[in-house]
Amino acid sequence: VVVLGLAALVTLAALSAIPASTGAAYPRRANLTQGKLYFVGACGGCHTLRAAGTHGTRGPNLAEEPKTFGSIVEQITYGGEGMPSFGTSLPTKLIANIAAYVVKTTPTSGVRDD
Ligand code: HEC
Repeated sequence: VVVLGLAALVTLAALSAIPASTGAAYPRRANLTQGKLYFVGACGGCHTLRAAGTHGTRGPNLAEEPKTFGSIVEQITYGGEGMPSFGTSLPTKLIANIAAYVVKTTPTSGVRDD
């Protein structure tokens, strides 16, 4: 099972051209304006984030759980139960900018570590 799981992860990584653990680093110069724009458009329908003025309720209010930059990048890239994955539809740089915006505006997000 472990071997199969690994193979699935490798396949997934090959398909999306993104390593299974993104290991994404906080962008040196995050474009928070772009991050906000895309957050509102792609995420706000499901998530409440006070700074962005969104009130979606399908997903958790992003201030509810502590998060890190890395965990947000992974969530956006791979999705989860009820959340679509964006790893094949959004460029990694854009995903990083969205995650940077969420970290910056969510009181429960950890610092920029990942
Ligand atoms: C179709 C609805 C939907 C969309 C669109 C969506 N999400 Fe989610 N999101 C969810 C759901 C449902 C969960 C909870 C499931 C899970 O944790 O795997 C979730 C979980 C999360 C989490 C983890 C939250 C926590 O408290 O642990 C983060 C971070 C997140 N989403 C960010 C985003 C971002 C950023 C976007 C836009 C790129 C986005 N989501 C788009 C539905 C959505």
